[in-house]
This record gives sequence, C-alpha cells and structure tokens, in this order.
Amino acid sequence: CGIVAYIGPKEAYPVILKGLKRLEYRGYDSSGVALLNSGLKVYKKKGKVAELEESLVGKDLHANAGIGHTRWATHGEPSDRNAHPHISANGKLAMIHNGIIENYTQLKGELQKKGYTFSSDTDTEVLLKFIEDIQLNNDCGLEEAVRIALKRVTGAYVIVLIDQDNPDTLIAARKGSPLVIGIGKGEHFLASDASPIIEYTKEVVYINDYELAIIRPDELILKNLGNEKVTPFITKLDMELAAIEKSGYDHFMLKEIFEQPHTIFDCLRGRLDAAAGTITMAGVQNNIEQLKNASRIIIVACGTSWHAGLVAEYVIEELCRIPVEVEYASEFRYRNPVIHKGDVIIAVSQSGETADTLVAIEKAKEQGATIFGVVNVVGSSIARISHAGAYTHAGPEIGVASTKAFTAQVVVLTMIALKIAHEKGSIDNKRFMHLLNELQEIPEKVPAALKDSEAIRKLAEKYKDAKDFLYLGRGYNFPIALEGALKLKEISYIHAEGYPAAEMKHGPIALVDETLPVVFVATKDSYHEKIVSNIQEIKARKGKVIAVITEGDEIISKMADDVIVVPAADELMAPLLSVIPLQLLAYYIGVAKGLDVDKPRNLAKSVTVE
Ligand code: G6P
Repeated sequence: CGIVAYIGPKEAYPVILKGLKRLEYRGYDSSGVALLNSGLKVYKKKGKVAELEESLVGKDLHANAGIGHTRWATHGEPSDRNAHPHISANGKLAMIHNGIIENYTQLKGELQKKGYTFSSDTDTEVLLKFIEDIQLNNDCGLEEAVRIALKRVTGAYVIVLIDQDNPDTLIAARKGSPLVIGIGKGEHFLASDASPIIEYTKEVVYINDYELAIIRPDELILKNLGNEKVTPFITKLDMELAAIEKSGYDHFMLKEIFEQPHTIFDCLRGRLDAAAGTITMAGVQNNIEQLKNASRIIIVACGTSWHAGLVAEYVIEELCRIPVEVEYASEFRYRNPVIHKGDVIIAVSQSGETADTLVAIEKAKEQGATIFGVVNVVGSSIARISHAGAYTHAGPEIGVASTKAFTAQVVVLTMIALKIAHEKGSIDNKRFMHLLNELQEIPEKVPAALKDSEAIRKLAEKYKDAKDFLYLGRGYNFPIALEGALKLKEISYIHAEGYPAAEMKHGPIALVDETLPVVFVATKDSYHEKIVSNIQEIKARKGKVIAVITEGDEIISKMADDVIVVPAADELMAPLLSVIPLQLLAYYIGVAKGLDVDKPRNLAKSVTVE
C-alpha cells in the first residue's frame, strides 16, 4: 500500500492523484483522499485509483493540503468503507495508515466501552479514534495526542493526519513502514517512496522509526516520541523521472526485463575490473575480516530475493568454502534461531522495506550478528539498519514481479563471493581471473538471451491454457526453476511448481501426462548428462518439454518439444542468462491471458506487513 500527502501553494488533489498512480505498482485494492479547504472532505473507493478519479469528476476538489492512500487489505475486506482515509468521530480529523496495529482489538474494546462506534473493520479507524479520545481527555493538541497514543501502540505504522482546526499542519509518524518527505519551495510532499516526489524536488528526508513529523508549507519539524527535536537529515535523490516511466514499452515488467543489459552493467560498473583482476566494494572491504572468517553465512530474504539467496548459497559454498543457509525471513524470525558470534547475516531485498526481512535482521542484530544488506532502494529501512552493504543499482523496479532486481542481486552476491574467496585464498588466481572475465561479459550476453522474445511470445500462446506447469533445474539452475515457477504464478495465475530435477522422481512425476508442460532449465554445466536423463524420464511419460539450453546443444534440442537458447557462460553465471527467457515466458503468458501483468491481483510490491 502507499501514502501520499501534500501541503503548500499548489492544488493538492492533482499532486496526490498523480502520486497515488505512481505508487500503484506497490499493489493495492482500494484508494482514497482527504482534502482540506473550508472543511474536510473524504472520498474513497474500492478498486483502482482511476475509479476513484472517475467518481470525483465534477466535484469541487480545491484544496492546498491533502492526504491520499492506496490500501492493501489486512484487517477487513477491500471495500469503500474499509478504504482510507478514516475520519474521527467529530469529523475533524482524517488519517491514513500503512502497517498493522497489533493491539487494536484491545484498544477498540476500551473505546467501545466509552461509547465509540466504528464504521469500518480496520485497525486504522481504531488508532484514529484512540488519538481523538486522548486529545479530548487531555485537552491537548493533536501532536501531543499522537505522541501519547503511539506510546501505547504495538505494531508497525506510518500515519499521516490532517486536522480541520489546523489547516496548515500535517502530522506524520513512522515505525517500521517507510516515509519520505520531499522538501520544495514553501511546500512539502510526503510519500511511501520517492517516486511520487521526484518530479517536484530532489531534496528529501527519510523519517526514522519513532519519529514524529510536524509539516507546514514552509517548515518541517522532527521530534522523537520524547518530544525532543531531531535535526532532519536532508539527502539528494539520485534518480531521474524517466526511470519510473514506461518509455514506450507496453508494461513496466517488459521494460525492466529489457533493461537488464544496462542494469547488470551498472551493477558491475566501478566495482569489477577483470583486466586489473580486482573487485572494489567498500562495504565488503571494510568488513573483510568478519566475512572471510565467518563460521557461517545466513542469507535472509523473501520471495524472489530468497531465490537470489539460493543461487548465492551455491556460489559462496563453492568459492569461499563457508557454509551458507538461506532462510525465509518470516520463518527465521519466529524460530528462535541459533546465532553465533561470527555468523554473518546477508539480508537480500529489492525494496529494503519487507517487514519480515526487516524484523528478522533487527532480531539477529540484537543477538550480535553482523548484518550485511544487499538492497536496491537507496536509503530504505534495511539499508539503513545494516552494518554494511552493497546496493544493487538496478534503478526503480515498478513491475510487481521482480526481474531486473533479481539479476542485480545475483550479480552483487556473486561479486561478494568472489571477493571473499580471493581475500581468503579459497580460489586460485587462474579461476578467479576466469570468473571475473565471465562476469564482466554477462551484460554483453544478455541481449542474446532477449533476442528470441518473439519466439517466446509464440510459445506463450501455445501453452497459455495449461492448468499446471512444472519447472526443473539442477545445481546453479535449481533456484532458477523456482524463480521461473514463481514468475508464472505471479503473472499468469497458472499453478506452477519448481523442483530440483532429480527430486522430481519423488513425487511430482506423478503429475506428468500429455497435458503437463515441464520447463527444464538445462544449460551446459557439470549436471548436463544428468538432466538429459531427467528429460527422458518426462518424455517417457508423454510430458511436454520446454527446455532452456545453451546455444549449440544438439542433444537436448532433439529431445525437447520446444527449446529456448541462451549464450554459453561459466556455470556459476548461468542463472543470470537462463532466468531471462523464463521472465519473458511468464510475461507473455500473462499478456496472452489478458491479465494486468504489472499489477497482478492480491500481490504487493513491497510487503510492509508480516
Ligand atoms: C513481494 C514482491 C516480490 C518480492 C518479495 C520480497 O512479495 O511481490 O516480488 O520478491 O516481496 O521483496 P523484497 O523487496 O524484500 O525483495
């Protein structure tokens, strides 16, 4: 979900509306705005932002202050009444909220005893009325009421309040969910990330946990919950507007898939120098003792980032001889995991805001682990709480299904592995130099993996009506089988399962018949002969085989029903190429089925709830 707010001389509504559209990629199911002019007006609607916009045509929307929200349902179904902003009992306050108030049932009970009634099922309305009640009882200002309320609240939140009695002040606070404030000339912009802000200003302040912001057109005051002023730290956004627009592509996802030659290049730039035989990564260099002497590396992530972690497990163990565990952040955090001094945790996250990953590393940090962040969004929460890290430099990723962020994560993790191995001496110089060259050549090879997109589109037409897909791979390509299946599920709503190709015999093989497409990720590597046998096992049971193969592979070409060819590369780098046709296949199947590939149903780009 996303929030946008504005205060200043401009018309607030168009700024907020455009901002909400920019945040659509984060995933949502309803939206709303509160505008303050002579009185407070709140409009909200289930469905897309465009539906809200349509319902407001002809209304007087003049206002110089306002707040807007896209909601991804947590408490209460998606509906007009559960959409934000919510209004206080006296109708004077409106509030938007991202996150979850964990003790809301208790607060709601207390308020009900006092006679409050609720017109929605949300935790947000409870928090707002709780704030209102404190304001009434203590006869204090809104700022103070918010501060008192937040001390009693458990959970994660960003809230923004607008107050009819103080039309030139917005109040915001955060814990856990992100909030960026853009500083303009006599105006301020608030948003969940920088994308609604960059067209107006590049000067921003990232609000920290437990900070309260008092925002007026020409003033920004930050305070901690103890009512002490905090100096806002202004940073400059290093992002251009073009990066968040579609630039002629039909969808962001397609644009982002096709950006990969550049994003991978940007990720390597200034870091990898194959001719000199060096990898320059300050975050790794400054912590090299901990990294090379780590007794264990634990990679913590969710979704696609977890798959990048799995690729890294294979690469790090191979090159660095350090045991690696890859953990789903949500499981890791609740399991009371064993963490030793000397363990290094690598948190992998595109958004840098995923709640499960964030809390997992906060806990591990408390237990003394060193946290290394591999994050795409600069200035995000995970980047800021990590001890050290390396950005993936893939640029803003708008499509909900992650593509270019994944390849950038794999590149960064591979560089980290190479650097550790080199410093540790667990790799000989010849292989080190060879792998540096191989990695440096990847951006030049990606266009060849993209060039068959028309053929992949036709394949998509052929297979789009399948009910299930199986994706199989071995070794470095096993995580790619998982990622291929995830992409298909996300974008086309077809059930798909990724499996280690050999393990398939222990269950999924029972699903194989002439209706089941089986995608093999089978580039030329040390497992090639073995995967050829696995293909035969599927063919013998009449399954349809689609194989991603290395150019010149005559053996699999003859066996498979359909093949997609990618350039040759060292097996360690193969995932960077073999994943690309699978991204395209999922994309074209989604398009062929007429689905909204950039904003698939129920998914969110940045999951800031547990
Ligand atoms: C959501 C997104 C996925 C993403 C996952 C982890 O589920 O839809 O595309 O892989 O979160 O997000 P992160 O930002 O931490 O990489």
